[in-house]
Amino acid sequence: MNKANILVTGGLGYIGSHTSVELINNSYNVTIIDSLINSEKFILERIEKITGKKIPFYEFDITNYKKTSECFKENNFDFVIHFAALKSVNESVKYPDKYMKNNLDSLKNILKCIESQNLSGIVFSSSCTVYGQPDNLPVNENSPFKKPESPYAETKQICEKLIEKFSDEKRKHGISLRYFNPVGAHNSSLIGELPRGIPDNLIPYITQSAIGKRKKLKVFGKDYNTSDGTPVRDYIHVVDLANAHVQALNRLIEKKSKKFYEFFNVGTGKGHSVLEVIKSFEKVNNIKLPYEIVSRREGDIEKIYSDTNLSRNELNWKAERNLDEMMKSAWKWEKTLKDLGS
Ligand code: NAD
Ligand code: WQD
Repeated sequence: MNKANILVTGGLGYIGSHTSVELINNSYNVTIIDSLINSEKFILERIEKITGKKIPFYEFDITNYKKTSECFKENNFDFVIHFAALKSVNESVKYPDKYMKNNLDSLKNILKCIESQNLSGIVFSSSCTVYGQPDNLPVNENSPFKKPESPYAETKQICEKLIEKFSDEKRKHGISLRYFNPVGAHNSSLIGELPRGIPDNLIPYITQSAIGKRKKLKVFGKDYNTSDGTPVRDYIHVVDLANAHVQALNRLIEKKSKKFYEFFNVGTGKGHSVLEVIKSFEKVNNIKLPYEIVSRREGDIEKIYSDTNLSRNELNWKAERNLDEMMKSAWKWEKTLKDLGS
């Protein structure tokens, strides 16, 4: 049975590729647009290999309105899942204008096309960074947006507000999914995270240190007010996260939305410290990880983890995979990358 036609922007990226697989597994028709600014073309063949489906692909930058609108006219999309964005917090501090332009202009173009081609709605990649360091934990969806800690976080806050206004004014449906810390890889090890250069994020730094690409992991601070002094995050397996998008689309299609604009946390609800992550990685993969404790990283918050009630009750979604499974799949993926010579 064929379901709706879904445009997946940024579909060759880390989360977009895993989501495209799960969408196809759930009988959705997927078309991908990606500029390859932070991804590789071979990922398309990998998605096709996993799913056994040929996927229509467009390579261009969505900040180009003419190309974006031509693509919408050529196709008969029902919904958009909008992943395409730049995502490095560090880089956004150095190049705030680049982040504002890419992340806001791409969304504005998508919204214009949704209106002109009369699509039904959009699912948007938001982030727990919209909350900053929340006052109460676990953080639920009623927590206010705090002053953004980076231009990247600011783009996510602005994008959510743009979608809310658009949805209410144009009577289109929008869902923002606020991801916590996505990690891990598909169990085929055909797709996974492909960090360029030195990774900022914890898990790729761990796997690259374990394989010898980096000398050792630096643990940023052991003087936080947490059980072992290292910061706490809600790590979520990327395949679980991908499935949250399938549920968001199902909600839109089954007309279960309670408002034109809705937003949900997507996390496991469990917080893990950096040292707990390292221990899990060492245990499940039987590896001694080289690491040292260094001073805090500027801009890091102490702890955050999600309240999952709303996503469980309304999206009918919950995370299935635990930290050990995340660490196993991340390591399997890193070893596959080594075999590829990358
Ligand atoms: P990614 O960089 O792997 O994927 C993004 C994809 O979008 C890339 O393939 C890139 O080439 C493409 N892209 C970027 N700008 C584009 C443009 N203007 N036109 C066309 N293609 C463009 O990142 P990801 O980790 O898969 O993240 C996907 C989304 O989820 C992003 O919006 C990101 O901000 C958000 N998010 C990510 C995380 C995370 O930790 N990975 C957490 C919260 C939210
Ligand atoms: C996790 C923990 C570090 C690297 C970022 C973005 C956020 C979201 C996910 C997009 C922290 C510690 C890290 C290292 C370390 N992305 N760490 N040594 O900072 O929670 O969130 O990615 O929306 O917006 O801000 O993730 O993986 O960088 O860090 O000790 O080499 O690991 O201090 O406590 P973060 P992270």
